[in-house]
Amino acid sequence: MNNFTYSIPTKVHFGKGQIAHLDELKDSGNKVLLVYGGGSIKRAGIYDRALEILQEAGLTVLELSGVEPNPRIESVRKGVEICKKEKIDMILSIGGGSVIDCGKVIAAGACSEEDPWELVLHPEKIKAALPLYCVLTLAATGSEMDGAAVISDLEKQEKWVTASEYMKPVMAVMDPEYTFSVSRKQTAAGTADIISHIFENYFTNVKAADVQARFAEGLLKTCFHYGPVALKNPEDYDARANLMWASSMAINGLIQYGAEVAWCVHPMEHELSAFYDITHGEGLAILTPHWMEFALNENTADKFADYGRNVWGIQAEDNMEISREAIRRTKEFFKEMGLPATLTEVGINRTYFDIMAEKAEAGCQGSFVELKKEDIISIFENAL
Ligand code: NZQ
Ligand code: ZN
Repeated sequence: MNNFTYSIPTKVHFGKGQIAHLDELKDSGNKVLLVYGGGSIKRAGIYDRALEILQEAGLTVLELSGVEPNPRIESVRKGVEICKKEKIDMILSIGGGSVIDCGKVIAAGACSEEDPWELVLHPEKIKAALPLYCVLTLAATGSEMDGAAVISDLEKQEKWVTASEYMKPVMAVMDPEYTFSVSRKQTAAGTADIISHIFENYFTNVKAADVQARFAEGLLKTCFHYGPVALKNPEDYDARANLMWASSMAINGLIQYGAEVAWCVHPMEHELSAFYDITHGEGLAILTPHWMEFALNENTADKFADYGRNVWGIQAEDNMEISREAIRRTKEFFKEMGLPATLTEVGINRTYFDIMAEKAEAGCQGSFVELKKEDIISIFENAL
């Protein structure tokens, strides 16, 4: 196990009615920028309830609405402008990962003289951020408890992750009932995203990080169990609650500290989203089984067999056989969740494979299995 410094500072209020804790925002001042997306929070009544609590707490609220899925740098710039002009004290993001990510870079941009795109490209330039609060409405990215944000400049066909300790949310409200209204497509994509975050951490070359690995396997089993339950009955509280908590635990550092490894399916998927603006979790569901097939070899079979035995309960003598069956079941699971299985289904062809692979290669350096540009192209080809 590697050395590490554990730091997960976000205060979480989890469960029904926990939105009442939004009155704690007054600890950070009195002017709030409320950031949200295309209107799902209004339809679900969350917007009205939040405003009521904020107003009762004596807070002044300004708004930035219309944040896009795969949030754009233009929205970040708008938010930063409001913060600077109105001397905003804190950000409140209410929504999914896109809204929270947008709020994070607004929070950092408000404390910087740099153009926010510079903060996306050069995370080391983030030296401070306004306090960021969030109310999560979609279990997927784990943005509610991590320091990362993913922002796109679609004109340049670029989508990059930035990250900073300063952008970790101060507080997150997680009410599983708020995810009852999430569509089938987003429920499935969100589940695939959580699963991918767990895989990205789980497939590491760091030896003897057993605590992290066993935590990860427990999280995977939880997702494989509750994903289909949430699809079948969107108002199943336990399913929504378990997916929501798994989304945070997958990426908040818990299973990563001491077992660090570079991620690789994410850099590949971010190129798909950058060029084709597809749903992140769908891209991951398409690529993951092909990455697994590529990564399986004599050296990695023990790790894949751990996955097969401990998560799927597969019993066989030969590790290679267990591994192949585990990959087959992973693929089957995504199919049963109604997720697309090929790039063709989401409108992607070979046109940009070369440039996408070139851009993804740098992000994949140091991953579980070495990936060169040609390898990434072959994974894309196999996924067509
Ligand atoms: O915009 P609104 O109207 O809110 O609708 C959203 C959006 O259309 C809708 N939605 C959200 N909550 C809902 C709801 N609809 C009904 N009921 C609710 N309760 O769902 C749609 C998708 O929302 P979005 O926020 O885009 O989804 P998600 O949470 O999956 O976020 C995806 C973004 O996060 C990035 C992805 O790349 C992508 O840009 N990621 C962020 C990470 C992080 N910060 O650590 C890590 C991830 O790997 C990921 O890359
Ligand atoms: Zn992800």
